[in-house]
Amino acid sequence: MKIIEVKDYTEMSQKAAEYIIEKVCQNPKINLGLATGGTPVGTYKNLIEDHEKNGTSYQNVTTFNLDEYIGLSGENKNSYRYFMDEKLFNHIDINKNNTNIPRGDCKDIEEECLRYESLLANYGGIDLQILGIGSNGHIGFNEPGTTFTSQTHVIKLAPSTINANARFFKSIEEVPTKAITMGISTIMKSKEILLLVSGENKKEAIGKLLTGKVSESFPASVLKNHPCVTIIADKAAISGLKSHCQ
Ligand code: PGA
Repeated sequence: MKIIEVKDYTEMSQKAAEYIIEKVCQNPKINLGLATGGTPVGTYKNLIEDHEKNGTSYQNVTTFNLDEYIGLSGENKNSYRYFMDEKLFNHIDINKNNTNIPRGDCKDIEEECLRYESLLANYGGIDLQILGIGSNGHIGFNEPGTTFTSQTHVIKLAPSTINANARFFKSIEEVPTKAITMGISTIMKSKEILLLVSGENKKEAIGKLLTGKVSESFPASVLKNHPCVTIIADKAAISGLKSHCQ
């Protein structure tokens, strides 16, 4: 794993955007894996600014998001479809038909898991996957205990995840308790992974990732088995830890 330590959230967002833009320029037909949550918002802002200023085009890019809440339609302001449209897709020249997010409002959710997994395979998989990390070590919504062999599946959200995400909802009761998420093996099939980590509240998680053993009880630890992972982490999250892994 390559680690890039940056000053703060602003610098993490700039560096991450530069990283993605370079990949898009190298391969305009790239399959990008995208994440939601607070971490990538600044990165998406930088992508939009660059698109407006420098004209980086996403016309031929295809995107696949990691996850979606079960029970929310794309029109719901708390859905990840709505989030992605608002935070990125509406502001760049991407064809919305090329933006894929699991559907959380399907009647047959098991069928939707299979559809999403085979869609990814049909597109040849993800070239670059952007990831955040949960304070409990989840990647996507793969909560502790998820098997490393998992494909796109339904997950019951951990109480700590529901608590952490309640900040986006009017009340904690509104946070869905289940989600559909790419599995760990789905994520691991990505050719390259960019993990973004910011803030003191992620320090314990990144510490466990860098110094702990690979275990299904800490999903992000699987990234140690991936041949091409870059971590961009700010000082608040990583200072004093980086030397443990180099
Ligand atoms: P956050 O979430 O970016 O809102 O901290 C990260 C995650 O849960 O994966």
